[in-house]
Amino acid sequence: MAIWGVIPAAGFGERMQSSIPKQYLELHGQSLLMRSINTLLANPAIDGVVVVLAENDTGFSDLPDSIRSRLITATGGDSRAESVAAGVRSVQHEAGDDAWALVHDAARPLLSSRDLLNLISQVSASDCCGGLLAAPVQDTLKRADHTGTVEVTVDRSDLWQAQTPQMFRVGALLSALARAKRDGVTVTDEASALEYVGEKPRVVPAMDPNFKLTRPSDLALATAWLASTNKPTTSSD
Ligand code: C5P
Repeated sequence: MAIWGVIPAAGFGERMQSSIPKQYLELHGQSLLMRSINTLLANPAIDGVVVVLAENDTGFSDLPDSIRSRLITATGGDSRAESVAAGVRSVQHEAGDDAWALVHDAARPLLSSRDLLNLISQVSASDCCGGLLAAPVQDTLKRADHTGTVEVTVDRSDLWQAQTPQMFRVGALLSALARAKRDGVTVTDEASALEYVGEKPRVVPAMDPNFKLTRPSDLALATAWLASTNKPTTSSD
């Protein structure tokens, strides 16, 4: 069973208010993108990784370790879905329609090896079309109208926040993305594309923080989280 990682990294991330694309910002001395690549390549079940870069990307070749075995690049498009499709087509070329594509945002550098392993084990052991890491919604949810007046409190008991990685068969994912595109339907993650064609992806609960870095405060939070997990242990621990 071939499994290939696909990392869409062709966006800029304007809400980060940085002069360089978000994926090249550093977290404890290493770019967000290289952290995500290393986490995937460290899993022995993953055969290779495709990094999807913007057409005018100048940052990737400057990263340490950007040239190595099992790592290839593809050129992305105007939307995340188009970039993902370009990366998955590269996997199709390398490993065929039955291979698994495991799509992971460059902007989620905290993915833990145990959550990655759990996703791969649960999805490959199930007979469903694929699945995604997700976290149960913890806050109370309100639906409000355009004036900001609350209309209703939404039952959160069966609601999940979708994360990445999301793992689907190459052929099924490519045809779902193509159909959504043809019908003018915007999909913001891979599972939505599969849902659109009638499939029922599985959610796999994430155990560790795996939030997407969108704003400067997210970078500060991720920095603090990593510092706390890297703390040297003392004899009283
Ligand atoms: O902008 P956002 O954080 O939602 O992007 C999620 C991921 O999709 C990022 O890793 C970004 O680089 C990628 N992306 C892409 N191609 C685009 C837009 C976003 O690969 N056209």
